[in-house]
Amino acid sequence: MIKACVFDAYGTLFDVAAAARRAAEEPGRDAFAAVWSALAETWRQKQLQYSWIRAIAGAYTDFWTVTTEALDFALEAHDLGGDAALRERLLALYWELEAYREVPDMLATLKSEGFVTAILSNGAPEMLSGAVESAGIAQHLDAVLSVASVGIFKPDARVYDLVGQTFDLDRTSVLFVSSNGWDVAAAAGYGFRTVWVNRRGEPVDRLPWIPERTLPDLSDIPALARP
Ligand code: LAC
Repeated sequence: MIKACVFDAYGTLFDVAAAARRAAEEPGRDAFAAVWSALAETWRQKQLQYSWIRAIAGAYTDFWTVTTEALDFALEAHDLGGDAALRERLLALYWELEAYREVPDMLATLKSEGFVTAILSNGAPEMLSGAVESAGIAQHLDAVLSVASVGIFKPDARVYDLVGQTFDLDRTSVLFVSSNGWDVAAAAGYGFRTVWVNRRGEPVDRLPWIPERTLPDLSDIPALARP
């Protein structure tokens, strides 16, 4: 029986492309508006790659540094490396990313039905509080767990261990939800029940583990979690 629903943050509850999309809509950003979507994709891919490489190489640093370094790569790759104002704006917007539309109601439903709810994220604690506050979902979450307390990034098992350590729950009573194929695959290998939120219709990652369920968005999480 599922007792806790644990969510990845970036890309799962929060729209990571929202920072670039909002900046692209602002006046005077024509060069950026032409490439914002590709730049956001480069930013995200480099952010993840740098987290994995740092984890493997034993060079952990906080996720905000990784996010900033990935943005610097992405801006230069798209010939916008000299735009310091754009850089500052994108970094500021990352602290107030939009939650996906269905998130507040979905979390409120889980809480009203007695499930434990939490975020488990690579994000630094301050980044996560910023996003949680600006999305107005703090009251629906029992915990916001950051990798900062273990000093390694997902998919290291020590990160997934934080859930059992915090709530004293068996792995099989935890439903782990992520839009990141690699994250949900590793969580399935760890022994969590899993849902992959596949908003973009991507192919399943070729890894040794596959997610138990796949959904197009988060609306049906309460229905799936019920006994
Ligand atoms: C996170 C990244 C992986 O929130 O999306 O942990």
